[in-house]
Amino acid sequence: MKSPVRVAVTGAAGQICYSLLFRIASGSMLGPDQPVELRLLEITPALKALEGVVMELDDCAFPLLAGVQIGDDANQVFDGVNLACLVGARPRTKGMERGDLLEANGAIFKPQGRALNDHAADDVRVLITGNPANTNALIAMSNAPDIPRERFNALTRLDHNRAVAQLAAKTGSSVNDVKHLSIWGNHSATQYPDVFHATVGGRPAPELVDQAWLESDFLPRVQQRGAAIIEARGASSAASAANATVDHMRDWVLGTAEDDWVSMSVPSDGSYGVPEGIISSFPCTVSGGAYSIVQGLDVNDFSRGKIDASTAELVEEREAVRSLGLID
Ligand code: NAD
Ligand code: LMR
Repeated sequence: MKSPVRVAVTGAAGQICYSLLFRIASGSMLGPDQPVELRLLEITPALKALEGVVMELDDCAFPLLAGVQIGDDANQVFDGVNLACLVGARPRTKGMERGDLLEANGAIFKPQGRALNDHAADDVRVLITGNPANTNALIAMSNAPDIPRERFNALTRLDHNRAVAQLAAKTGSSVNDVKHLSIWGNHSATQYPDVFHATVGGRPAPELVDQAWLESDFLPRVQQRGAAIIEARGASSAASAANATVDHMRDWVLGTAEDDWVSMSVPSDGSYGVPEGIISSFPCTVSGGAYSIVQGLDVNDFSRGKIDASTAELVEEREAVRSLGLID
C-alpha cells in the first residue's frame, strides 16, 4: 500500500467542498490505489458544521481515507501537506466594490500563503478555486517566497469543461470527440474560450461552427455560465466546480492525455505576450508532475484582442492588490 498523500482543503464546510471532499476521499482525484489524509480548514464559526461533514465522511467508510483533521489555524492544518485546494474565499456581497473584494480576500490568501510557505511539505502543489481565483493565487504565491512559483495554479478547468460541453452540443458530438480547446486569461467574464485550435472528431472546429455563433453565442455563454448558474440555482456552481478542481489536480499529479491538452491558470512566463508574473489561463500539458504551457500556437487577430483584454484585467487586479500592500 502507498503511503497517504496529505491533502489540505479550505472552505471545507462550504458548498463546493460538500462535493469535493467526498470525491477526493473516494479516489477520484489521486487514483484508486492512493490513500489520502484530509486536512480541513474552516473559520471558527463553521467548525461545528464541518464536524457534521466529517461524520458523513466517516459514514462513507472510504477505504482510501487514511485520516481527517480539522481546524481553524492554517499553520496547523497545512503542516506537511503535499497538495492544497484553496476553496474558501470571501464572496462579493451587496454594495461591495471590486477593491473591497480584493482586500477581503487578501486577508485570507496572504496568511494562507505564508502558512503554506512555513509548514507545507517541500513538494506542495497549491490550486486556488476561491474567487477571484487568479488574483487570490497571485497573493498566496507572492507570500510564499520559498515555494517555487509554478506550484501555484488557479482553476479555469471549469471554464474549459464548460466550453467542451458547449462545442460538443453545438456539433452534435460527444465531449470525448472535442480536443485542444483552450481558455486564456482570467476566470471572469473576460476569459477567452478559444476554439481555433480545437478539433471535433478530428475535424478542425472552425470548419464546423461559424464566427457569428462563436461571437454571439459560444463566447458569452461560456463567459457568463457562472452567472447563469447563480441566477438559476440561487447559489454558485458547486458540484461542477468541485469536479473541475478534481480534474485539475488529477491531471497536475498524474498527467494529461497524450492526445489533448487542458486549461490551467499558471504564472505567466511571458508566453504568447501574456505579461510575466500574472496567473493566467493557458493551454497546458502535464508530464512527470510538472506542467508546460503549449508552445507554438498561431494566435489570430480575433484571439489576440480577446487574450489581451482578459490579461489586461489581470494586470489591473495585480496593481490593485499591490497598492493594497498584499503583494510586493
Ligand atoms: P461557500 O460560501 O459555500 O463556502 C465557502 C466556505 O469558505 C465557507 O464555509 C466559509 O466559512 C469558508 N471560509 C471563508 N473564509 C475562510 C478562511 N479564511 N479559511 C477557511 N475557510 C474559509 O462557497 P462555495 O460555493 O463553496 O465557493 C467557494 C469559492 O469558490 C467562492 O469564492 C466561489 O466564488 C468560488 N468558485 C470558483 C469557481 C472557479 O471555477 N474558479 C467556481 C465556482 C465557485
Ligand atoms: C463560476 O464560474 O461558476 C463561479 O466562479 C461563479 C461565482 O461567481 O462564484
